[in-house]
Amino acid sequence: MSVELAVGARVMVRQVRRDDEARFVKLARASSAFHRPWVALPESAEQFATYLARFDEGDAVGMVICLREGGDIVGTVNINGIVRGCYQRGTLGYAAFLPYAGRGYVNEGVGLAVTYAFEELRLHRVEADIQPENSASLRLVQRLGFRKEGFSPGFIRIDGVWRDHERWARTADHVY
Ligand SMILES: CC(C)(COP(=O)(O)OP(=O)(O)OC[C@H]1O[C@@H](n2cnc3c(N)ncnc32)[C@H](O)[C@@H]1OP(=O)(O)O)[C@@H](O)C(=O)NCCC(=O)NCCS
Repeated sequence: MSVELAVGARVMVRQVRRDDEARFVKLARASSAFHRPWVALPESAEQFATYLARFDEGDAVGMVICLREGGDIVGTVNINGIVRGCYQRGTLGYAAFLPYAGRGYVNEGVGLAVTYAFEELRLHRVEADIQPENSASLRLVQRLGFRKEGFSPGFIRIDGVWRDHERWARTADHVY
């Protein structure tokens, strides 16, 4: 069953699911060096199960970005750490899988996820935390209209190292 959350010109986003395991893990392994040191995605069945469980709690949505033509998975986009109440915010995580990087697919997919976050999840703010040296990711959020709001030293631990991150965000264009 493929339940699309949002559909664009070339890609669509849908929730990641258990039967994605084999393809997801294969793509993540093939992209492992490309992803480091920016993100670490599940590269085994066990890690994939732990990853999926994160999306059962209601405070995160895990998605895959798929080609409309053929349906292969080209990347991931998650909305993590959703906080309701007076914040109504969430934080993006995303990555392209090789060999699909550099074609604008993830740009389109993250854009769809941001629209989903504002219009369906009714969030007011979507954030992206990016290491200063990650120029591809910085270009992506700038193309999507995010603004730089700050810098946090040692903000996120990736592969065992606390890494500095720039703080980028976009707020909903409309008032609820
Ligand atoms: C960051 C990351 C997701 C960006 O992925 P990407 O493949 O470069 O981004 P896109 O799919 O949006 O492709 C954009 C590139 O494709 C090109 N492109 C080709 N056709 C395009 C189209 N139709 N539309 C938009 N861009 C297109 C763009 O020119 C752009 O190149 P540029 O960034 O050199 O200007 C990817 O580099 C990645 O996975 N990095 C490792 C993980 C990571 O850093 N995640 C983010 C942590 S904060």
